[in-house]
Amino acid sequence: MTETSVSSLALPVLDSALEARLRDRLGEVEARLEREIQSEAPFITEACRHLMHAGGKRFRPLLVLLAAETGDASAPEVLTSACVVELTHLASLYHDDVMDEAALRRGADSANARWDNHVAILAGDWLFSKSSELTSELGSEAVRIQAETFTRLVEGQILETQPPQQGQDLLAHYLRVVAGKTGSLIATSARYGAMFAGASPEVVSALTKYGDKVGVAFQLSDDILDVGSESTESGKTPGTDLREGVPTLPSLLARRSTAPADARLVELLGGPLVDDDLHAEALGLLRSHQAMDDARSYVLGLAREAGQHLEVLPESPAKDALVAFAELIATRTA
Ligand code: FPP
Ligand code: MG
Repeated sequence: MTETSVSSLALPVLDSALEARLRDRLGEVEARLEREIQSEAPFITEACRHLMHAGGKRFRPLLVLLAAETGDASAPEVLTSACVVELTHLASLYHDDVMDEAALRRGADSANARWDNHVAILAGDWLFSKSSELTSELGSEAVRIQAETFTRLVEGQILETQPPQQGQDLLAHYLRVVAGKTGSLIATSARYGAMFAGASPEVVSALTKYGDKVGVAFQLSDDILDVGSESTESGKTPGTDLREGVPTLPSLLARRSTAPADARLVELLGGPLVDDDLHAEALGLLRSHQAMDDARSYVLGLAREAGQHLEVLPESPAKDALVAFAELIATRTA
């Protein structure tokens, strides 16, 4: 059978019927998102459309749709919940760019750069309100899940601004941040898909655990890309996190080393890397360090653990696609 791909994530789907279904449903999600961001005030629509149209992999809606293949994927709530998670994600990006003082997002000017912080914060609030309105259509359990998810997401984001507690391991602190700010919404995406497709509680629970692992792997594979990628491949500037002093899995693993040969790298990683020469030296050392292989193995391990949660599912193209999805996340190059 020919292997085709769905969405800009290039998910390999071996089953043509599943592939066509996912493609159609993603088209419906796009159309619904477009409708949802229509406001009576044209400026609000313009501000919200700005990042929505700048691209994005629609990774979370795709996960909702894939997880829904464990039941009745055509249930209307599946589509609604796919829009809920994308709108929530989009809202958080508007706020994130204000916090990061980012100039670019998805290759376009960030909203704070295009307009100002006030517009970016309020557009994020508006999108978040829209996602809440949609969630209310899904019933009280979805409202509760959405609220709990968002609490975890914001807690992760807040924890990121705080140093680890006295004696707390840097890596453990970091993994907690990642599980909150990224893992929470991705886990909920898989959960909503299974839940609104009417899957059994056992399957919903398995998909939620799968989503938790995939969500963390998603963020950590981004960390590896930051160090290891060539900009032509990933569309990002290699070493941006290093330059900005943002912790990543490879840098935290390298900092654990006590080997004398690593002393220079550990010293560099412990200080600012805004100077071009120091930055290039640290990036070069880190790229060829064992920490990169360890980081890749860690992320592949998460993808494998995610796949193990799917053992409750019967063999099907959807199960294969979910396994492929986790592996793709762990090994992505963009
Ligand atoms: C991206 O992180 C950011 C997140 C995953 C979550 C950010 C959440 C908030 C700012 C809270 C939002 C609150 C409301 C009310 C909408 P990153 O900076 O590591 O990734 P990046 O490279 O994509 O910027
Ligand atoms: Mg950011």
